[in-house]
Amino acid sequence: MTESRLYIEGGKKLSGEISVHGAKNSVLPVLAAALLSQDVCRIENCPALSDVYSSTRILRSLGCKCRRDGSALEVDARTLSGCEISEDLMREMRSSIVFLGAILGRLRRCRLSFPGGCELGPRPIDIHLSGLSKLGAKITEDHGVLDCTLPQSVSGADMTLPLPSVGATENIMLAAVLGSGETVIRNAAREPEISDLAGFLNACGAKISGQGSSTVTVKGVGRLHGAEYSVMPDRIVAATYMGAAAITGGEVMLKGVRPADMYSTTAVFEQAGAAVYPYSDRIYISAKRPLKAVKTLRTAPYPGFATDCQPIVMAVLTKARGTSMIVENIFENRFRAAPELRRLGADIKAEGKVAVIEGVPRLSGAALVATDLRAGAALVLGGLAAEGVTTVSNLGYIDRGYESLETSLRSLGARIRRI
Ligand code: EPZ
Repeated sequence: MTESRLYIEGGKKLSGEISVHGAKNSVLPVLAAALLSQDVCRIENCPALSDVYSSTRILRSLGCKCRRDGSALEVDARTLSGCEISEDLMREMRSSIVFLGAILGRLRRCRLSFPGGCELGPRPIDIHLSGLSKLGAKITEDHGVLDCTLPQSVSGADMTLPLPSVGATENIMLAAVLGSGETVIRNAAREPEISDLAGFLNACGAKISGQGSSTVTVKGVGRLHGAEYSVMPDRIVAATYMGAAAITGGEVMLKGVRPADMYSTTAVFEQAGAAVYPYSDRIYISAKRPLKAVKTLRTAPYPGFATDCQPIVMAVLTKARGTSMIVENIFENRFRAAPELRRLGADIKAEGKVAVIEGVPRLSGAALVATDLRAGAALVLGGLAAEGVTTVSNLGYIDRGYESLETSLRSLGARIRRI
């Protein structure tokens, strides 16, 4: 059967209000962390994403029980038996690497195949492996299979990461939670998802402090009990909806968000001329006036401008009067939305780490192909603004990080459907 595509009739201003679902990049490490608990864990605000489904398949393949209960997911790791993740499961979702630290933390042994690169670039894991080695892990690699063992009791370590890697910070935290020593992670990632993971682990009885700062301290404990925990809202999905309002000249109220996670994002939309009003758990954005170019935008580790929002903002800037420049400092190959947006009539020149965008007065519909998760979302935004019909294929990428994106956008008045 031919794969489904999104069919968009653009040119309509979006308006209305929309709730933002739980954060993919928080729920994935939290699901891995549930392995460390000797009781049942109930994770609320768990989005229905294909990456979440992949994670439950990994948990079940390890002997755990998973039960979806509405917007919650219950994980019972008491029956955890396996320490190996199959190659096809690893290839299905490269962020499965975060299970390494959790499996090592609980079973002291883990075998998994090297996570493949992805559309964004090689995605090395050297910082993950050197951090785990500092905890005493013995890691061998043979024919692309990693075989890791951890001594019975982790006596702690004091380490400094060469760069604030989100995944490496998470993996080291997960491997250090059960044990006797104290582990200090310096130059740790400060993303809100790190704090959410620490929040879940502490709810299970872990002793983690400093999360959200550059120095995270994990005091080893003997065991973790169960917990009920609600995952933070997805700040990248929120940025995507803000982009949809901005690029169509509409106005949208986002509900169930945490504005404090998004200062660098809301600042960019304000620089582009949108009016943004943050409240305690919601953000209102209105783009009644024509958008203005953003002179220079650089992606950086949190609290800098998030690389995941870069393709989203690139799409918005295609219609902003003037010349914008984006510098992508995190991933090697993250301007893949550019050639597809050019098919809509956008004027973007991308070379290495730099993309230069000349705003154009109008975009016109075309057949587009998503190349990765956030670039796919950027193409949808382009289609919402383009006159005429735009189709977007390769929806598997988009479904990894967005719970039925078209349904949400339709509730804001977009003429979009999956065919
Ligand atoms: C997480 O990926 C997110 N994924 C990414 O979101 C996000 O773009 C990224 O953090 C940066 O914020 C999840 O949380 C599941 P990193 P991660 O380790 O952990 C280099 C999305 O769209 N690096 O902080 O892989 C790496 O190559 C996804 O939701 C090493 O060199 O990001 C990259 O250039 C895409 N060696 C930079 O660090 C390592 O051992 C940042 O990577 C690890 C990373």
